Amino acid sequence: MSTRDELLASDLLLPTEIRKGLDTEVLGKSNIIYFRETDSTNTRAKALAVRGAPEGTLVVSEKQKKGRGRKERNWFSPSQEGLYASLILRPNIAPRDAPKITLLTAVAGADTLLSLTQLKVNIKWPNDILVNRKKIGGILTEISAERDAIDYIVVGLGLNVNMRHFPDDIREKATSILIETGKPLSRVQLIREYLRRYEEYYEVCKVVGFEPIMERCRELTDMIGHRIMVDVSGETYFGKVKDIDRDGALILEDSKGEYHRILSADVSLLQRDSDND
Ligand code: BTN
Repeated sequence: MSTRDELLASDLLLPTEIRKGLDTEVLGKSNIIYFRETDSTNTRAKALAVRGAPEGTLVVSEKQKKGRGRKERNWFSPSQEGLYASLILRPNIAPRDAPKITLLTAVAGADTLLSLTQLKVNIKWPNDILVNRKKIGGILTEISAERDAIDYIVVGLGLNVNMRHFPDDIREKATSILIETGKPLSRVQLIREYLRRYEEYYEVCKVVGFEPIMERCRELTDMIGHRIMVDVSGETYFGKVKDIDRDGALILEDSKGEYHRILSADVSLLQRDSDND
């Protein structure tokens, strides 16, 4: 057996393994729901949330048969190669603030990768984690709310960990930790570190608000000054990113010099002026 196979064989995301040395108070502490395979951890988590599962419930699966991305896209989810994890949160925040949870997740995910690898990790607002301009992670946030109160948020993180290959349609755009570092990484170690960092940031939000998270998000993105194309509910805008503001909104300056404040969108990075230098 190769070293990689040995690592993978002993790296199942079993609740007993995750809990060993898990340094959290709430996240993944009482409820970890484990699947060898399932349709989608977000779908499972939503079903549990509807039945009253508490904040901090973690759903993980070795494989997803219908892993879901934003905009009805599929999320490539082969067995034991990626991290497919969904958390149930019940934050006491206004529904309009829910997009900030996506950014918190991006920051926790990116900081986890930074701490366990030497990779130069980048956040692509609002829900992508990139390395070398390729996607290494994605976040899918799903919310159930009344007009002024959140019932639950399910926030799913997919990380490309030990994949060697990707299907043709995403080969150019996707990468994994193994591809970038040449070394496999323990997914158990990864999820423990992610939960620890997530809880730390989540506590910060409860005590002082989201501002420090947005500050960290600005540090972890290289989008500011970048030319982008954004699709906001079917409308396309081109322009330059000026900022990510204190509420986590993207501030875009279009070619006429008009500013747009975008709360959620699908973003494509265009070539930088300096790319031609
Ligand atoms: C995206 O980049 O479009 C978001 C991808 C989110 C994928 C994760 S994997 C765990 C969770 N379960 C899902 O079905 N999707 C999210």
